[in-house]
Amino acid sequence: CGIAGIAGIHDIRQALTTALERLEYRGYDSAGMAIHSAGGIDVRKSVGSVATLAATLPPEPVPGSGIAHTRWATHGAPSTRNAHPHLSYDASIAIVHNGTIRNIAELRGELDDLGVSAVSDTDSEVLAHLVAWHRGQGADTETALRLALARVDGDYAVLVIAADRPGTLVAAADGSPLLIGVDGRAVHIASDRAALASECTHYSHVLDGEVVTITTAVPAGRDWKPASRESGWQGKGSYPNFLLKEINDQPRTTRAAISALFSPIAPGSPADWSATLDRPSIKRVRFLGCGSSYYAGEVSASFVEQLARVPAAAEPAAEFIQRRPVVEPDCLYVLISQSGETLDTLHAHRYLRRHPVQTLSFVNVVGSSLDRDSGASIHLRADKEVSVASTKVVTNMQIAGLALAAWLARADYGARSAELLELDLALPILPTILADLLAGKDAEIRAAAESVHAYRSMYYLGRGASWPVAREGAQKIKEISYIHAEAYQSSELKHGPLALVDPEHVSVVVAANDDSGNQDATLVSQIQARAGNVVVFSQHQTCEFGATTIRLPAIHPLLDHIVMGVALQLFAYHTATILDRDVDRPRNLAKSVTVE
Ligand code: G6P
Repeated sequence: CGIAGIAGIHDIRQALTTALERLEYRGYDSAGMAIHSAGGIDVRKSVGSVATLAATLPPEPVPGSGIAHTRWATHGAPSTRNAHPHLSYDASIAIVHNGTIRNIAELRGELDDLGVSAVSDTDSEVLAHLVAWHRGQGADTETALRLALARVDGDYAVLVIAADRPGTLVAAADGSPLLIGVDGRAVHIASDRAALASECTHYSHVLDGEVVTITTAVPAGRDWKPASRESGWQGKGSYPNFLLKEINDQPRTTRAAISALFSPIAPGSPADWSATLDRPSIKRVRFLGCGSSYYAGEVSASFVEQLARVPAAAEPAAEFIQRRPVVEPDCLYVLISQSGETLDTLHAHRYLRRHPVQTLSFVNVVGSSLDRDSGASIHLRADKEVSVASTKVVTNMQIAGLALAAWLARADYGARSAELLELDLALPILPTILADLLAGKDAEIRAAAESVHAYRSMYYLGRGASWPVAREGAQKIKEISYIHAEAYQSSELKHGPLALVDPEHVSVVVAANDDSGNQDATLVSQIQARAGNVVVFSQHQTCEFGATTIRLPAIHPLLDHIVMGVALQLFAYHTATILDRDVDRPRNLAKSVTVE
């Protein structure tokens, strides 16, 4: 979810709509806005995108102050009843909240005892009632919010407006980001920097545990940082959607990452991001991230093991904390996130920061929460990614993994100089190979998508380092086509999953250019012997599989995984568009999940 508020602007309706549009990557189930009005608080809500909400707003400019929210549903289905802002039982205050209240049952019970019942299914609504109740006992809004929050076990970024205090907002945060921005006339507040008005000259973070009253005056005593201009918003050009544009951006964005992350001198070079790392004490590496970022971590772990011969593994960020891990002092922990705002990843990072260990982040959004909190970050240089399913950023995450692997390997330069030299020679070719693939293989990949789009279940099979590539391929097709897909190690198929193979089932075989060509051919035969359908994505140039085979170029044993990943993105894209899915905004998902 994303929240925004503004005090003192000539058209609050338009300014809040713009802020919400920039926060939609955090959820697009429903949206809402509460604005001070002559009669108290005017609340508008709608199910669906911010554009739907905007159509319900008064056409004329509305001056003043207000708060707004875009939601990714956790407690309660997407509906206007569950959309924020929530009004208190006496309509005296409205609230927007990003985060999770864990002791919701207990707080609901306390409100029941006070004779107040909730009208929505959300955890956030209880906050509105608690604040109103404390105000009813004589507290001012800021004190009432403090008292209400003292009862909360959870993470929150909260904004409150009170009907009797036009022109004033009260903000609080703990565990969820919230930033204040000033532009000389109005004071803005939002979940991230991008959502602050582009006129903001300075910004300041609401600190964990802080409660701040915001009026049109610049809040005093804060640590203000200059706000740099946003890198320009890029439209989708002549492409039918952002996803296809972003897949096709990759020759350019991979070139940008390679030239920075492998350069000896450019900004973003290893000299920059490794300055605070102590190489000799790194004996192992663990990558942490969520969704596609976790799978990029798995690919990166295989790069580190293969190139640097340093033990490496990846784990979903939330699972890492869940198991109360032993934090290994000689391990480098690498946090991976496109947005830098995923709460599970931020939690893992905060957990690690309480220990004397080295951490490094891979982030695409410069200045995001993870980037700011990190001592060392590799910026992924993929530009803005709009489509919910990550493509060009996932590819650059793998390039960052490779850069880290090369940096680790260089410490052992004598032993590995030949491998590093080979990689250095192959890397500049990667963007050209991707451009050729996107132009030259598109029709063939679309034809393969035509042949599978009507099936309801798929396996993605890969072995060794191709397995994480298969996992990300399965993730992509699930996200955007809604076809059930599951990845297995090819060798595991015969030990159980083969039971599901029948004429209604498709297996996508990821065949890397290594010495397992014959094993992959046997795998295909085993599936076909059970009348299963097979599509092979192969980097072997000669091996015959006796099934639909898309042959992809092979350039280098490590870079081949990146090439395969891009081909699987295109395959998922075509399958989804044949099924007429909304590929940029798949149902039920958010680009970045900022709650637990
Ligand atoms: C959400 C998105 C995924 C993404 C994951 C991690 O679940 O739907 O596509 O991979 O968040 O996002 P991050 O911004 O941390 O990379």
